Amino acid sequence: MTIQINYKNKGFKNPSANLILFVDENFKINSIKSYISKGEFSYISDLLKKSDLKKNLLFFEINSKKTIFLISLKKNLKTSDVENLGAKFYGYINNDNKNDYFINSDTINSKINNFLAYFLHGLKLKSYDFNIYKSKKKKKIINVIIIGNKNKVSSKDHLKFKALEEGTFYTRDLVSEPGNILHPDEYAKRLNSLRKYGLKVNILNEKKLKKLGMNALLGVGQGSTKGSYLVTIEWKGLKNNSKPLAFVGKGVCFDTGGYSLKPAKFMEDMTYDMAGSAAVVGLMKSLAIREAKINAVGVVGLVENMVSGNAQRPGDIVKSYSGKTIEILNTDAEGRLVLADAITYTERKFKPKFIVDLATLTGAIIVSLGSEYAGLFSNDDKLSNQLINAGEKVEEKLWRMPLSKNFDKLINSKNADMQNINYVGGAGSTTAAQFLQRFILNKTPWAHLDIAGMAFSKYGGALNSGGATGYGVRLLNQLIEDNYE
Ligand code: BES
Ligand code: MN
Ligand code: ZN
Repeated sequence: MTIQINYKNKGFKNPSANLILFVDENFKINSIKSYISKGEFSYISDLLKKSDLKKNLLFFEINSKKTIFLISLKKNLKTSDVENLGAKFYGYINNDNKNDYFINSDTINSKINNFLAYFLHGLKLKSYDFNIYKSKKKKKIINVIIIGNKNKVSSKDHLKFKALEEGTFYTRDLVSEPGNILHPDEYAKRLNSLRKYGLKVNILNEKKLKKLGMNALLGVGQGSTKGSYLVTIEWKGLKNNSKPLAFVGKGVCFDTGGYSLKPAKFMEDMTYDMAGSAAVVGLMKSLAIREAKINAVGVVGLVENMVSGNAQRPGDIVKSYSGKTIEILNTDAEGRLVLADAITYTERKFKPKFIVDLATLTGAIIVSLGSEYAGLFSNDDKLSNQLINAGEKVEEKLWRMPLSKNFDKLINSKNADMQNINYVGGAGSTTAAQFLQRFILNKTPWAHLDIAGMAFSKYGGALNSGGATGYGVRLLNQLIEDNYE
């Protein structure tokens, strides 16, 4: 479905088509008396007597062409509440067979700046649908027409919302693509096309990675007929050369587990094992579109974890880019191997202000936090708090989990500097994070976000209708906006 938004400042007082009006938390409709007819007013007054006023959206069918929607605005709404209202409203129009909806902006009574922009942002985010492989597509176009005068959004804010929508949708597109289409070769090619947004894209292929000694990353991809890549995407929004903010993502295009093979049931879900990288890429696209006043770099490791005569074996020992050696006890703990090299490279090459990595790293984080919070692991309290606060604002929430050297004994290896899993001791998400921390060599503030429970939603959430959520793009954009711009 396509949503088209138009603005009409004059005329159209009371259209003979669907009309959306905002009222207070008690559904007092005196405030909207002048915007509807006398007949409509008394009809609605009467029906309101038997309506459930605890709801925040009620609708009244006036005739076959016209329904009046009343959306109640509670006191002290947050911006995320307004986004959720927009998304909820989308739920109604999606199930309806009408085409035109008029929103009367003059009825908005709220302290929130850009109220209507947040409302429409929520509506649009919720309307995303991945349908490119359906032969019969829903061709429906819905017109949302804004009337009245409380619809002013500065062009800067307008651009920001548009950038976030495009970035989030790009992330969702990448995550939704199946493994046979979006393998590492194709992914690298698509990233190359981001140059047109003013991003500097550098693609390191296998030959270059071998030369650099990125054997941890290469080991994961060696069983695939497709290539393995490390791609860096730079945004320079400042004229000076100040240290960039760095975002690193796990891009395992498909994770079979390798020789430590995953069970057949739900293996198909592992097409979203590149969601961390997709969030990084979507963020970089957003920053470029809105021309953010910061320097930033995104670094993604793109591989496919397959089984073949050339695949990595359990028991193999590899030397990572950092020089540290790793014993591969389980080929299914592959994300940390890809990130290990990507993190060291990012720290060495870009000397960033901080590194935030995102990865669908462990099933254990889903056991801990389900689909409510991503796990946050960090060596830096300030960065952690900034992330948690940004997450609360955009409802992409984070819960901080521990790191401690006491976990180190679980991943020390007899034969190498470390091993990639712990057989005893539990704490699967923490030991994975503890493993990653060993590849921060210069004390750079670092945070690891385990998004395994957040990247994909089987049933849909507040701002998505099911499938890829785009988790991370709005979170990291908020982090930047609030603290670094
Ligand atoms: N990609 C998986 C983690 C995952 C699981 C993501 C479920 C999304 C949903 C990761 O590569 C993995 O296989 N992790 C293993 C680690 C184990 C072998 C130590 C896991 O979680 O079982
Ligand atoms: Mn795995
Ligand atoms: Zn994986």
